[in-house]
Amino acid sequence: MSVHAEQKPWTVPALAEAKREGRRLAMLTAYDAGFARVMDRNGIDLVLVGDSLGMVVQGHDSTLPVSVADMAYHTAAVARVLQRALLVSDLPFQSDATPERALDASVALLQAGAQMVKLEGAGHKLEVIRFLAGRDIPVCAHLGLTPQSVLKLGGFKLQGRDEKAAARLLADAQAVAEAGASLLVLECVPTPLAQKITAAVHIPTIGIGAGPHCDGQVLVLHDMLGLDSGHRRPRFVKDFLAEGGSVAGAVRAYAEAVRDGSFPDAEHAYA
Ligand code: KIV
Repeated sequence: MSVHAEQKPWTVPALAEAKREGRRLAMLTAYDAGFARVMDRNGIDLVLVGDSLGMVVQGHDSTLPVSVADMAYHTAAVARVLQRALLVSDLPFQSDATPERALDASVALLQAGAQMVKLEGAGHKLEVIRFLAGRDIPVCAHLGLTPQSVLKLGGFKLQGRDEKAAARLLADAQAVAEAGASLLVLECVPTPLAQKITAAVHIPTIGIGAGPHCDGQVLVLHDMLGLDSGHRRPRFVKDFLAEGGSVAGAVRAYAEAVRDGSFPDAEHAYA
């Protein structure tokens, strides 16, 4: 029997239950039906239609040019084939600038088949998270390296390095959880800080370049298949195709490595 046939479809409450029970979550990005189907059948718990599609699918230098219409198009393609994995879609650049704009964009993504929307940052986004969560829209927060802030950050860099920045990130993580987020992506933060945040919040954390102590992991599909994205390859990326031998094998190897805690190892994390 395949993994797919054995397991029930994921729900938002089941994610919180997984954290309480210490079960790690495996997440990957997908942008089309073909790859999403392979993920759904090979042990992936959450599929993210990330606005990284601006870079890996559309060929831009950042995620800034991605529109709500782009996100809805790719979300619908992925949603058509998922039977088990929970589908999260990104609110693209400035579509979440105000609660009202975020509501309109979220409705478009949920009507395309998303089960949760992801948005970057804390600060004024806390009001947006509260507004959406209060209207029964599940929200995934995203802290640390937030790619939509690339111009302000001056590049795709490790975040939370000094004491002050680490304290701010911890406070932001607690604030997004308090505001009603159901999930929290931590991108490019030192391992000890991600561990501290994971222990401090009641919602599952999903790391990308955040070490092994998060409640789950996410990678961009193209990165975990070893494709040259035309951008500098971050330290946390591992080519699972090399060990998996096929796309399905790579996805399975990734899901197993996340679940048994062997990925990420020290080589793929920031101390
Ligand atoms: O857009 C994306 O793919 C993401 C992941 C890097 C977490 O936000």
